[in-house]
Amino acid sequence: METKRYTKESIDQAAEQLRKGEVIAFPTETVYGLGACAENEEAVKKVYLAKGRPSDNPLIVHIAKSEDILSYTDDFSLVTKKLMDTFWPGPLTIILPLKNQRLSKTVTGGLDTCAFRMPDKELTLQLLEKTGPLVGPSANTSGKPSPTTFDHVYHDLAGKVVGILDGGECQVGVESTVIDLSNEEEIVILRPGKIGVEELQQVVDVPVVYDQTILGEKGIPKAPGMKYRHYSPTTPVVMVEKKDFAQAIKHYGKEKVALLASDDVIAQFPNEKVFSLGNTLQEATQRLFAGLRTCDEWGVETILAEAFPVEKESSGIQRAYMNRLEKAAGGNQFLA
Ligand code: TXA
Ligand code: MG
Repeated sequence: METKRYTKESIDQAAEQLRKGEVIAFPTETVYGLGACAENEEAVKKVYLAKGRPSDNPLIVHIAKSEDILSYTDDFSLVTKKLMDTFWPGPLTIILPLKNQRLSKTVTGGLDTCAFRMPDKELTLQLLEKTGPLVGPSANTSGKPSPTTFDHVYHDLAGKVVGILDGGECQVGVESTVIDLSNEEEIVILRPGKIGVEELQQVVDVPVVYDQTILGEKGIPKAPGMKYRHYSPTTPVVMVEKKDFAQAIKHYGKEKVALLASDDVIAQFPNEKVFSLGNTLQEATQRLFAGLRTCDEWGVETILAEAFPVEKESSGIQRAYMNRLEKAAGGNQFLA
């Protein structure tokens, strides 16, 4: 199968393919998604096949306007409405109870809830207007870092999908924050993303908490996708704090490592194989997946990636960065 590049100019053709039941990747502000019409079960099955994704892992349904959800759920509560009005379009996925069976088990993993999100990307909102709701898991091979450019998607899925809508580089760089609103006494963050407790708590009165299974803690995550090894390049990744890089490079061998680190760290080790994470957490998060993919192609023995340890007051973006890095590293940290 030839994988075609679609752009703003050819968006109508991409929409037509999707309506016919084909699979097309689309850009969002977080990462690229792998699209198929949410109510077409055969099309949704092709998404799992292309990604090699376990079938008990439910998908996010992407929509162009909040009202689109009313085909599947009851009227919004005040809390839900407030969150949608404040954060949509944007990197927030909301899990709501379903009222009918219009979405197949293939989409929901057999749960009586479904995840919804309105992406903040004009091109993809236009696509959604033309196709109706689309499922959209990240458009990577299952287990690999999520794609933040057209090239990443092409690398993983060329020959497996009909096309990719090219929307340039993703601005956020990690997947959306996933919150469970099926119990309105408490809002639980199942997957950390750019929007953290602080931002959510400014908008709602009910307590917002992180699911205890997210970082290091024991138990089975409520978002099925969080239990899998994830975001992993083939090369082993080790987390290293800023102050420990000199020792870590010595330990793993100067010639055998790639550095994925902030500019101030890189400035100290100019002769190494390096990928810059910039100067801010925002930049680091936007570049993390691209960095893991690039370092993986250098044929080194170990990728030393900078850790920004999370504390109680840490922002959503820092928790999101560390959550993805911990998974890529399988929890491996250099202890000086
Ligand atoms: O930013 C994003 O969310 C990207 C872009 C493309 O929109 N999409 C994305 O989808 O990351 P995916 O499928 O890779 O991750 C969806 C996560 C998984 O961890 C899944 O288990 C969880 O959301 N999830 C989906 N439906 C759920 C439900 N009803 N209950 C609990 N968790 C759910
Ligand atoms: Mg994913």
